[in-house]
Amino acid sequence: MAVRESIHGQWSTRWAFILAATGSAVGLGNIWKFPYITGENGGGAFVLVYLLCIAVIGIPIMMAEVMLGRRGRQSPINTMETLSIEAGHSTHWKYLGWMGVIGGFLILSYYSVIAGWALAYIRESVSGVFVNSTPDGVKGVFGDLVSKPWKLIGWHTLFMVMTMVVVARGVQGGLEKAVRFLMPALFVILLILVGYASETEYFHKGLEFLFKPDFHALFHVKDANGVEHRSWNAVLTAMGHAFFTLSLGMGAIMVYGSYLPSNTSIMQTSFIIAIADTLVALLAGMAIFPIVFANNLEPGSGPGLIFQTLPLAFGRMDGGILFATLFFILLTFAAWSSSISLIEPAVAWLVENAGMSRIIASVVMGGACWAVGLLTVFSFNIWQDVHLLSGIKIFKDATIFDLLDYLTANIMLPLGGLLIAIFAVWVMSREASMEELDLGNGILYKSWRLLVRYITPVAVIIVFMNVTGVFNWLSSIAWLQALFGGQV
Ligand code: PHE
Repeated sequence: MAVRESIHGQWSTRWAFILAATGSAVGLGNIWKFPYITGENGGGAFVLVYLLCIAVIGIPIMMAEVMLGRRGRQSPINTMETLSIEAGHSTHWKYLGWMGVIGGFLILSYYSVIAGWALAYIRESVSGVFVNSTPDGVKGVFGDLVSKPWKLIGWHTLFMVMTMVVVARGVQGGLEKAVRFLMPALFVILLILVGYASETEYFHKGLEFLFKPDFHALFHVKDANGVEHRSWNAVLTAMGHAFFTLSLGMGAIMVYGSYLPSNTSIMQTSFIIAIADTLVALLAGMAIFPIVFANNLEPGSGPGLIFQTLPLAFGRMDGGILFATLFFILLTFAAWSSSISLIEPAVAWLVENAGMSRIIASVVMGGACWAVGLLTVFSFNIWQDVHLLSGIKIFKDATIFDLLDYLTANIMLPLGGLLIAIFAVWVMSREASMEELDLGNGILYKSWRLLVRYITPVAVIIVFMNVTGVFNWLSSIAWLQALFGGQV
């Protein structure tokens, strides 16, 4: 097949792609979200399921997504259309691209608000408020920030503008330059933080929380009255997070793959990206939980977790002001290199189909996304008691931000990933995937195919069915009960 070319340009080298994709993967998901959802879902067993999902579902789907992108060489919507025509199937597959574009848009709307918190914390750190601070003092600083809509809107606006500027500058001029130095620097500062945590007496307790599985905690949730219920929701959250943290299921990695030079190994690069991403998340957990336990804080305290723990550590370190400032700068950069990939599929599509320049397309999408972001801003203050789906048990106390997060990370990304898997092995021809992956027809290619063909779809479907209660419903059917002895 004649190799297609992307009208948006190409990464200059294989390393540029690895850095950009790692930049996309490593972000708030690793440092902000992973610790707080681990805290909310009981620790070790959750981490274990998450790691399993990365290995068995995440890496194979990442390979599939990069492969589709590189073969289609366009925005996810047009790539899916082109590839389905090539495979002789219905062009309805383009709606998978649409779902991705919408998912990325919705994620960015709240992502930018949280990244705004990181920006705000750069200023707080410089001011020295965290020096020798107490848990209550640090909580106060956080509470003061999120309770003021105008403050949040200001930082959210600044972050969205930063995102639009880089996206407007294009593949090599903008995206590539921004990530080259940031990732290594972030890694180093996380190591320093883990070093600090390892000297507290609670390091051991932190590690135990992260790595000692407690399956009871995974499968049971407590409601507001302290009554326990069985639930698979934590498993869905772990799986959803595997997609979220690797930027899978919505076309970000697909669109980055579309700028990948043709002679690069998809498998090798996918492994490097997934390993780097996982390391950053685990390091963040190892830095945070010892501080949580040392200060008697609540691991399940939610989205504010890192903002209420790390400042305590910085406040007691020599050179704490410097380290705190550096940390929040790097967190902002990590979020920045992810946010550009969240909006890139939509911008690439506008350039391809609406004939817009990159600059106009970035402004249009960024502006719309900014407006939707206000829903998240208000979820932390004036609308904190608005619970749109309070009739459904698991959403009883969910704010609009919680719902957006659930819809995107737990539903849209796994569903997108499932459909990408189906497309890559059931719709696309074997010849095409062999040509792109370039692994020959040996054990590597066959294992990939097996995972993506059966394991991934089955795993995603089982988790979905468990959460929606389909299994409970099935187990109430008498003849099935007889067949499986009530074990369904
Ligand atoms: N992977 C990013 C993070 O962990 C978030 C992201 C999700 C980016 C989906 C792009 C696509 O912060």
